[in-house]
Amino acid sequence: MSFSRLLAFSLLAITPFHFPPALAQSSVQTTGYLTVPSASLYYETYGTGPLLLFISGANGDADIWRPVAKLLAANYTVAIYDRRGFSRSYLSPTAVQNYTLRLETDATDAKQLLDHLSPGTPATVLGTSSGALVAMQLLLMYPAALKTLIPHEPPALTILPDVAALVAGQRDVYAVYRALGIPAALLKFLTLYDPSASFNPGTDSVSGFSIDARESPFVSGNLQYWFEREVLQYPLKEWDLDALGAGGRKEKLVLACGSTTSAEGAQYRSNVVMAERFGLNVTLLEGSHVGYAGDTMVGWARDLVGVLAGRR
Ligand SMILES: *[C@@H]1O[C@H](CO)[C@@H](O)[C@H](O)[C@H]1NC(C)=O
Ligand SMILES: *[C@@H]1O[C@H](CO)[C@@H](O)[C@H](O)[C@H]1NC(C)=O
Ligand SMILES: *[C@@H]1O[C@H](CO)[C@@H](O)[C@H](O)[C@H]1NC(C)=O
Repeated sequence: MSFSRLLAFSLLAITPFHFPPALAQSSVQTTGYLTVPSASLYYETYGTGPLLLFISGANGDADIWRPVAKLLAANYTVAIYDRRGFSRSYLSPTAVQNYTLRLETDATDAKQLLDHLSPGTPATVLGTSSGALVAMQLLLMYPAALKTLIPHEPPALTILPDVAALVAGQRDVYAVYRALGIPAALLKFLTLYDPSASFNPGTDSVSGFSIDARESPFVSGNLQYWFEREVLQYPLKEWDLDALGAGGRKEKLVLACGSTTSAEGAQYRSNVVMAERFGLNVTLLEGSHVGYAGDTMVGWARDLVGVLAGRR
């Protein structure tokens, strides 16, 4: 073999070490199913290091996190999953689902993933939107499993001073869904959270995902599951903030909002109320409600790594 070919071969062999770590380590990936009571949870992991679990919002689907998970793989073992009932996380065809305990069950599912992926070591969890409410329930029920818990823009309507109007609005969203269907209800939903919001069902995405059923086999089922099982259950959950802050819990909290999210939005103000109650600050991560996806993803990931590094 000529010297130049040898050089080319050794360069090829060395090349991976010249890749930015985020790219090189993004290949470390597992996918699997975790069997939990009455369901089977689909999950993926990226990278190595301490566990960082993301909990999805309204679409319930892991896919929206995949690009940012690969980006963070240099610093963490990032786990993403489809919440129970969404996309590839199947409900048992035979067992009972106790929907009076829907939020508790969602939180227990996340706890089982933590036990499976980070046994005995407290992990960092970030939940967004509906998933931020799951994260808060996780903190309430299983604080010992958590190192840091980040509710990113939780719509915790019942802790806000204008709860009556917000709850009425949320009930109206559900009524519109029943009477007129999903696009009309989503428009109502978005303007409830940000009065300046606009929504063109033909072209716009909601929380970063398209609602066109031709674009994903899961969209239709996910949206109906969300409307039937979460729209009235999750944002209307009554929180005991004393319990949420007690027993070392508030020390684990990082209250995060998007840097360009309207501070008037209920999902932003919920964190402001908790910050005041617990003597914490609201931490801003680059971008809007879905800053972790799309153009702002790199800045969002940088901000998150910075915030978490400050807590070591
Ligand atoms: C994250 O990973 C990158 C690449 O390995 C490294 O340069 C950086 O220091 C890490 N940041 C933290 C806060 O660990
Ligand atoms: C569902 O949970 C509620 C609240 O804990 C409980 O009262 C009820 O018995 C449960 N139902 C079933 C079928 O397990
Ligand atoms: C909140 O931010 C202020 C101003 O930056 C700072 O002085 C204070 O220590 C922060 N509080 C907490 C709990 O981090």
